[in-house]
Order: sequence, then C-alpha cells, then structure tokens
Amino acid sequence: MPSFEVDPDISIARTISTDFYTDPGYFEISKEKIFLNSWQFIGSGELAAKKGSCYPFAFLSPFIEEPLLLSRDTKNELHCVSNVCTHRGNLLVKEACELSNIRCRYHGRIFELDGTFRTMPEFKEVKNFPTAEDDLHPVDLFQWGNLLFCSLRNSFTAQSFFSEMMHRVGWLPLEEFRYMPGLSKEYTVHAHWALYCENYLEGFHIPFVHAGLNAVLDFGNYTTELFTNSNLQLGIAKEGEPCFDLPTSSPDYGKNVAAYYFWVFPNMMFNFYPWGLSVNIVKPVSVDETKVSFLTYVWKDSLFDTGAGSDLNTVELEDEEVVEAVQKGVRSRFYNHGRYSVTREQGTHHFHRLIAQYMK
Ligand code: FES
Ligand SMILES: [Fe+2]
Repeated sequence: MPSFEVDPDISIARTISTDFYTDPGYFEISKEKIFLNSWQFIGSGELAAKKGSCYPFAFLSPFIEEPLLLSRDTKNELHCVSNVCTHRGNLLVKEACELSNIRCRYHGRIFELDGTFRTMPEFKEVKNFPTAEDDLHPVDLFQWGNLLFCSLRNSFTAQSFFSEMMHRVGWLPLEEFRYMPGLSKEYTVHAHWALYCENYLEGFHIPFVHAGLNAVLDFGNYTTELFTNSNLQLGIAKEGEPCFDLPTSSPDYGKNVAAYYFWVFPNMMFNFYPWGLSVNIVKPVSVDETKVSFLTYVWKDSLFDTGAGSDLNTVELEDEEVVEAVQKGVRSRFYNHGRYSVTREQGTHHFHRLIAQYMK
C-alpha cells in the first residue's frame, strides 16, 4: 500500500512524494482509491432535453470506460443507469437518440427508460425471474442548475463536493448558460494528471507564466479558500478591468470579482467569468499523459472573451509548457519533495493532502 504523507501545517509541510507522478502502480491505485469514489461531470441537461432522450457516455473516458446512460422518461424525469444489458452484457444504446423504451439488439430484452426490466422473449421457464438484478443498475445522479454529475459508488455525498460552490455563486442563472461546442476544445498534455491540477491550484505562477492574465488580475488581492473536497481561488480585477455585476445577495458584493476559480476534487475546474462558465475536466490517460476538456457555457455573449476569461487558449498553452517541463523534472533522481509558500500555495497543499488521504 502506498504511503503518502503531507503535513497539515503548510509551514512545515513538504510536497507529496514524486513517486505519485512517476509510478504506474500508484497511477492504477489512484483509479480505485480516488476516481472510483469521485463524482464526475456528465454535461448539461441539454444532452437529454426531450422526453425519451437517451444519451450514452462513459464515466471518465479513457481512464474509466464504465458505460452509462442518461435518459429522460415520459414523466420528464432524468435517470442515470448502466448501459449494459443484464442478460449477457451487450451495450444497449450506442448513440444519442429518442426512444420509448430501451430494447437490447442482441436477444430483445426490453427496459423502461428508468432502467426497470420490462420483458424478455423465451424466458417464461426461467425461475425466480425477473428480480431487481435484471433492472439496469442505477447510478447516482446529481443536478445543479442544468449541470449533471454522477457517481459510481456514492462513497461521499455530492454536497461534500459541490455545496460551497453552489452557495457562493448560487445567484447565477445556470439554466440560461448555453453549451457552445464550437468554442469547446480538448487538449493533450504530456504530464501526469495531478501535475496539471496542482498548477491550476495556485495563482503564484501567474506573474511568471501568464503575462496577459497578469495584466488584468490584481495579484495582491488574489485569495484562496479551502473547503472539504473543493476550493476557490478568487481573482480580483485590476481597476477598470471587466468584473461581475454582483447582486447584494452575493457574499462577495462590493468586490471587483474578475473570476471564480472553483476546483472540485479530484479533477474538475469550474471557472466562472462575467461572460459565463468554462468547465475543465482533467482526464488521466497514462502516468505521463492527460487529456483536458475545456467546455464552454456562455451566459452573456457581449462579454465573451473579455477580462480574466479572455484568450484562455494562450493561458492553457502557457500552463502546458510549464507542466510538461515539471513532468520531466519529477523524474529526476535529485528531486523528491519541495516546500510550499504559506501565502500562495494553499490550494496545492490542500490537493496534496487530499491525495494522501484518499490513497490511504
Ligand atoms: S444481451 Fe441483451 S438480450 Fe441478450
Ligand atoms: Fe496557469
């Protein structure tokens, strides 16, 4: 069993052992200990907008290819179930479609849209049939606005991951945010998934790595707040730069917030800008390769690509360059641990502590 220790006191703590980023064994263990216990982002409700809509997807492709199905039944209720037939394991729905029931193409077993077994040819003689095991396995679904998440094990409540974010920006009309496939993108990064995340988790590098972003953010007032399984970096706008028009109900009313950078353990980033939301999903491929999806949800078209939420592609390429260099660095026989800045690396320290805790 791996043993990763990170002292809770940031002023004496050392960063997590580099073995975590370089050892394929720990990479596999992280699947079991971290990702299989996590909540993952499915997308927005538009994926299954109409009664009868079915949308097949994988839990976290390509790391955890568990076949799942999002469906909307005739009562307009959303469900998430296993997309695997309970007879002999055929994949049921192969592409997004509209159905009145789910019929397996192998031997004709039929399920309701909520996954309940309905009928099966040639099964009259089968004893003790059907049972609950013949229904499609239900998967926990969590909905915030029109954003959908699922969990394979429901080891931890969705609230313990999302509640602080939901409370903090709960005034935003998420139902009005529209997914923009043309403005969305996937990047391949030649680095371990955690190196990508920990770069995101500190604004310390902004003045050194991101000249453009640094020009619009007030570095002196950049703050990090830690929650149970998530944290928030609050980007304050420099004088005259675009910021949120916050309602008086917002806990941040009176501040010039340019961006809310919410991170949810282990691999999700929700970046709220005055124009809308950029969701980043970090998807492990191998011990030294990661894919990152940038999913764009626009709220106010006229503000798109302004302020801290502008030219995100340039910011991403700047981050990739440094993260890929670190991937080479962590393989060095002369480097195993570093130390943290107490004032600027609370988010990265929090992330390392969570890794150590989940890997136990
Ligand atoms: S595998 Fe689905 S009916 Fe046989
Ligand atoms: Fe960055």
